[in-house]
Amino acid sequence: MLEERLFPDLTIRNLETQLIGQRVIYYPVVSSTMEVATEVGRLGAEEGTIVIAGEQTAGRGRLGRTWFSTSDSIALSIILRPTLSQLPRLNMVTSLAIAQAIEKTTGLATTLKWPNDILIKGKKVGGILSEGYLRGSEVDFAVVGIGLNVNLDPVEIPEIADIATSLSAQLGHPILRSTILKSLLKEMEVLYLALQRGEPVHQQWRQRLQTLDQRVRVTMGDKVVEGCAEDVDPDGCLHVRDDDGHLTIVAAGDLTAPVGIC
Ligand code: BTN
Repeated sequence: MLEERLFPDLTIRNLETQLIGQRVIYYPVVSSTMEVATEVGRLGAEEGTIVIAGEQTAGRGRLGRTWFSTSDSIALSIILRPTLSQLPRLNMVTSLAIAQAIEKTTGLATTLKWPNDILIKGKKVGGILSEGYLRGSEVDFAVVGIGLNVNLDPVEIPEIADIATSLSAQLGHPILRSTILKSLLKEMEVLYLALQRGEPVHQQWRQRLQTLDQRVRVTMGDKVVEGCAEDVDPDGCLHVRDDDGHLTIVAAGDLTAPVGIC
């Protein structure tokens, strides 16, 4: 295992960004960066502030799941202040940024599973948890949480051993977390600024989605839709056509795929 303190670290202080990561709140160990980021976001933290942990003791995943993040992972939350129309697109921006950072720093090929899992060879290497907070009808702030398995050995965590992978497991050697982190923040900034300029991100994101043309089952609370994943729209919603030809547009849910042939 590579011994490395994520911050203070020269690589982080030499970030190639103007916005994201220019303010850093670092904890060697914290319960969840989401809780801290939500608190400081409410207190008016500047856009682009990141809350980063050497290690989390109570990392949270989507749909109330546990997220395992050790000192071998990247765990951070970014405070952003998007508009209401930009808010649903943060997932696409973030998953693209992670995929591009992985590919640029390691050469590993990634795919995306709707809505926002980052996969390598079909196994999950990273995930995103985004939460928006409104003030009236406007967005007050959003927190985008990113978890990335860098040097973690999934085999050592029975709960995820079969479904997860890490960069080191794929590369066959460990890498510095700060290298991938620096690239990730840069990619995130480029894409977020593009989003702010009104540029569409969904075509780039769509090209990486392995979910399209698969037969999928999506659970949304107590509702389940099964059918062919036909397309995604500019907000990242999944268009699922069932066997009766009925189209459901899904904004969020738990996806299982493939569950047969389209
Ligand atoms: C998922 O795929 O379910 C989303 C995982 C998100 C995990 C990150 S790690 C940093 C931040 N803090 C948390 O507690 N969760 C997110």
